[in-house]
Amino acid sequence: MSESIISLKNISYKYDDQIVLDDISYDFKMGKCYCIMGPNGCGKSTLFRILNGLSFPTKGEFYFDGKLITEKYLKDENESRDFHKRIGFVFQDSEVQLFTRSVIDEVAFGLYQLGLDQKEIERRVYYYLDLLEIRHLENRAPFNLSGGEKKRVALASVFSMKPEVLILDEPLAGLDEDGQEFVLEFLKKQKSEDRLIIISTHNKELCDAVSDEIINIGKNHKIIS
Ligand SMILES: Nc1ncnc2c1ncn2[C@@H]1O[C@H](COP(=O)(O)OP(=O)(O)OP(=O)(O)O)[C@@H](O)[C@H]1O
Ligand SMILES: [Mg+2]
Repeated sequence: MSESIISLKNISYKYDDQIVLDDISYDFKMGKCYCIMGPNGCGKSTLFRILNGLSFPTKGEFYFDGKLITEKYLKDENESRDFHKRIGFVFQDSEVQLFTRSVIDEVAFGLYQLGLDQKEIERRVYYYLDLLEIRHLENRAPFNLSGGEKKRVALASVFSMKPEVLILDEPLAGLDEDGQEFVLEFLKKQKSEDRLIIISTHNKELCDAVSDEIINIGKNHKIIS
C-alpha cells in the first residue's frame, strides 16, 4: 500500500507582500509521479524550494515522512543530512546546480557525500553517464557545456544518488525536440514503486506520459484542480 511521504498543510508563501502560494494542501505518496502545471509565476519553483528545504512557508506546515520540516529542524546537521540524502532536486536552471571542474567530478560529488566506497562511486558514475549518454563529456567542464548537456549532467548527478524522492523543476525547459524526447523516455523508466517523483512542467506530453496525478496551480496561486 502506498503511503503519504510528503504532506503539505495549508501552505502559503509571500515574497515581501506578494502572495505566491496561497493555502496549498496536498499529500504525495510513495510510488507515484505527480506533475505540477500552471502559468509562469504561479509559484511552482517557490513550492519546490520549500519541498527541498531551501525556503520555509510563511504559513502552514510541510511534513516529510511524518516530521515537520522547519528552518530550526534543518539546522540540526544530522537531520539535515538525512533529509537531503532522501530528496534529490533538479533545478529549473542547471547553471545554479553545477559547480565542479569536470562532469565526472560533478556526478561523483554527491556519491562521496553519501560515503560510498571508491569502487561503487566509479560504477555508479559510469552507469549514469552511459544512461544519460554523456560519457563522452566526462572530462569537460560543466560550465562550458550546452544547456541540454548541462541538464543531462544535472540529472545524472541527482539520479545517481538514488534518492527516494525526486523533484524536477521543468526538466524539459531549454531542450530541443530530441532532448525533450530523451528526457521524457528517461523519466518514464525512472518511475518505481519505492520512489516519489514530483515534476513541474509546461509540457502536456510529459504529463500524459509520466504522471499518475496532475496538480494545476492557477494564477491566483491556489490549487485549482
Ligand atoms: N527571490 C524572489 N524575490 C521576490 N519575488 C520572487 C522571488 N522569486 C520568485 N519571485 C516571484 O514569485 C512568483 C512565483 O515565482 P516562481 O518562480 O515560483 O514561479 P513559477 O511558477 O516557477 O514560474 P515559471 O513557470 O516561470 O518557472 C513570481 O511572481 C516571481 O516573480
Ligand atoms: Mg519555475
